[in-house]
Amino acid sequence: MKVLTVVGARPNFMKAAPIIRALAARPGYRHVLVHTGQHYDWAMSGAFFDALAMPAPDVDLGVGSGSHAQQTARVMEAIEPVLAAEAPDVVMVVGDVNSTLAAALTAKKLDLTVAHVEAGLRSGDMTMPEEVNRRCVDAISDLLFTTDVLADANLRREGTPPERIHFVGNVMIDTLTRHVGEAERLDYPGRLGLAPRGYATLTLHRPANVEAPERLAEILGAVIEAADGLPVVFPVHPRTRRRIEALGAGVARPLNGGGPAAGINTVDPLGYLEFLSLNRAARIVFTDSGGLQEETAVLGVPCITLRETTERPITLRGGANRLAGVTRAGILAASAAALADEGGPQPAPDKWDGRAAERIADVLDGIWGTA
Ligand code: UD1
Repeated sequence: MKVLTVVGARPNFMKAAPIIRALAARPGYRHVLVHTGQHYDWAMSGAFFDALAMPAPDVDLGVGSGSHAQQTARVMEAIEPVLAAEAPDVVMVVGDVNSTLAAALTAKKLDLTVAHVEAGLRSGDMTMPEEVNRRCVDAISDLLFTTDVLADANLRREGTPPERIHFVGNVMIDTLTRHVGEAERLDYPGRLGLAPRGYATLTLHRPANVEAPERLAEILGAVIEAADGLPVVFPVHPRTRRRIEALGAGVARPLNGGGPAAGINTVDPLGYLEFLSLNRAARIVFTDSGGLQEETAVLGVPCITLRETTERPITLRGGANRLAGVTRAGILAASAAALADEGGPQPAPDKWDGRAAERIADVLDGIWGTA
């Protein structure tokens, strides 16, 4: 049984790592790892392979950055001969980035079996490139591995044959569960001079939020206000860096040696363990990321999502995550509610228990008789 897994961008690595580990521990599997090279900086890619003890990719396509069409087309062209030569029994794609779409489409046109991990998530917002990617990948995948019951319901509503849908849980939480103890021992916030629950964290990288200066300035101003004197630590995605610099020194300052202060303190993109260490002890997290909404739900740290929609509505249950929108009023209202909520951490969604990759391997065993 040959499984070929495709990764490309930062949020893919923590999803693929537990699957690769689960298959390596079972007899009867050969695994091939293809990295498209969508993300290529050490901080965005290599650092995650190290921290998560992933095997080096067998193939690196080195496609790099470009427009959506360029990036997708380059991955398709480069991966086609690899898929044809390897002829895997299953091509495993994860998440919703351009590499996910390009690999799935190419594999299906070669009549290969495609498995999509994290299927069925829907924001309903077709202006998000990830939403287009998700819908297209799910429409052509043979095996759809879902993280929660709402994703199953989305797929059923769209007419996906139920026998293709497998509710296995959340592989990203497998990785979190495995590494959270290590992250705690690392005490990254302590190294920055931050006390537990004495700071907030922020991530922002969606083009809709960072590419219009007025929008970016409004969000940053509101986050500073909402944090109410707490230092806000902001690891800056490469896409966002230039935009922050253009706003001028008054809005955010680099955290380099001077120690954290109230307001926004920027740092370079962090490795997996440093970032987990930072988030687990934060008072509150502000983000427009998808994955961080799920991680905070399990860590029991209030999350304020800086978007109008979420493809992960299961995290909104019980107020673990709050959809704030991107206006000052929305961000302040959601943050005040989150900080006043004494309800304590909510139970994690069903099957977010560290065993999702084992369930994926069980499904493959069941189909291919490798057990
Ligand atoms: C991509 C994903 C997004 C995911 C995000 C996580 C798509 C459509 N988007 O967005 O869903 O949340 O990754 O980070 O696939 N860059 C570097 N170094 C790198 C990679 C990128 O400097 O290693 C810079 C380049 O200027 C590049 C820009 O970041 O043009 C954007 O990179 P790209 O992969 O196109 O999209 P992301 O914004 O990272």
